[in-house]
Amino acid sequence: MARKKGRLYGAAVKSSQLNDHRFAEALKREVALLVPEGELKWDALRPSPAEFDFSGYHRLAQFAQANSLAMRGHVLVWHHANPSWLVPELKNKKTAEKILRAHIERVVAETSPMIRNWDVVNEAIDPRSPRKDGLRETLWLKALGPNYISQVFHYAHQVDPGLTLVYNDFGLERGDGYGYAKRKLLLNLLKKLKTKNVPIHALGLQSHLRCHLPLGGRDFTEFLKTVRGLGIEIYITELDLDLSRVPGEGYERSTFAQNYVQTYLAMVQESGSVNTLLTWGLSDRRSWLEDALGDAQGSLPLDTNYQRGPLWESLRSGWLRA
Ligand code: G3I
Repeated sequence: MARKKGRLYGAAVKSSQLNDHRFAEALKREVALLVPEGELKWDALRPSPAEFDFSGYHRLAQFAQANSLAMRGHVLVWHHANPSWLVPELKNKKTAEKILRAHIERVVAETSPMIRNWDVVNEAIDPRSPRKDGLRETLWLKALGPNYISQVFHYAHQVDPGLTLVYNDFGLERGDGYGYAKRKLLLNLLKKLKTKNVPIHALGLQSHLRCHLPLGGRDFTEFLKTVRGLGIEIYITELDLDLSRVPGEGYERSTFAQNYVQTYLAMVQESGSVNTLLTWGLSDRRSWLEDALGDAQGSLPLDTNYQRGPLWESLRSGWLRA
C-alpha cells in the first residue's frame, strides 16, 4: 500500500532476528526498507581501534538484497553504543578528527551502494544540558567542540556527495516543557547549519511515542513547517508506542493508542507528506521495548504471533490515507 503511494515503509531489524523463520517471512511480507537496529553502531563495528566487523551488517544486507529491500544507515555519530576503547583514543582534536573521518570513510565505503541514506548525527540536543545551545555533552562535543555536528555532515558529504544525510532525535513531538525546549533548541541548530551551508537533507523524528504524554499541538506543527521551510525533509524513523502508563486495558487501551497515533500522524502530515516511515522493530515479539518495559503488546505493527495489530491499522489509516 505504501509503495503504491510512492512511499517507503521500513523497520529496524537485528540480524539475529533473521534466525526466526516466521519473523523473516513477516519482514518480506510487510517491509520495503530495513535499518540495522545495532549492527552499524560503533560498538558493533569497532572491536578495536584497528578492526572493523561488518558481519552483522552483511547478514542484513544479504537478506535485503535477496528480497529486493532497501536499507538505510544508523548511525555515524551517537553518544551511546560506543566501544570502551574510543574515549581514551580521543586524545586531542586532531586525533579525534582523524578517527571520526576514517570511520565514516570506511563505513560509507563498505555499505555503498546498498545504503544511500544515513542517520548522521543522533540525539545531539538535550534540553537538560547546562549549555546555552542545548548541545548534549557527549564524547564528540568534548573532543571536537560544538562544531562537531557540521563537521560530521561535511565528512559524510565529502566521502560521498550522493548520500542523503539525516539528523535524528527523539521527543520532538512532546507537549510538555521538554518538547517545547527541544524544538526551540533544535530549530536554532538547524537554522545555523543551513546558514553555514551544511549538507543536511532530512530530520528524523524518532517517534518513540509515550502515549501518556500530551502531544505538542500547534507548536509542533509550526516547528515542522519551519523545518520544511529550511529545505529539510521530514522522516519518521523509529516509531513505536510506550503504552505502559496508559490507564485501562484491552480494547479501551488500544482505542486510545490508535487515536493517539492518528493524531500524531495528522500533526506531522499537516505541513506535507511523509514519504519514509519506519517503526523500531516490526513485531511485539522480542522488541527492544519488551526488553525495556517487560510487556510491550501493541507497541509495534505486528503482534507476538506476527499478525497485524492495532498499530498496523493506525499506520494504514493515519499515514497512507493522508
Ligand atoms: O552486544 C551485546 C551482545 O554481545 C550480547 O549478546 C547481548 C545480550 O543481551 O547484548 C548485546 O548488546 C545489546 C545491543 O542492544 C545488541 O542487542 C546491548 O546490551 C543493548 O543495550 C543494545 O540496545 C540497543 C540500544 O539502542 C543501544 O544500542 C537496542 O537494541 C536498540 O533498540 C536501541 O535503539 C535506539 C536507537 O539506536 C536510537 N534511538 C533510540 C533507540 C531505542 O533506545
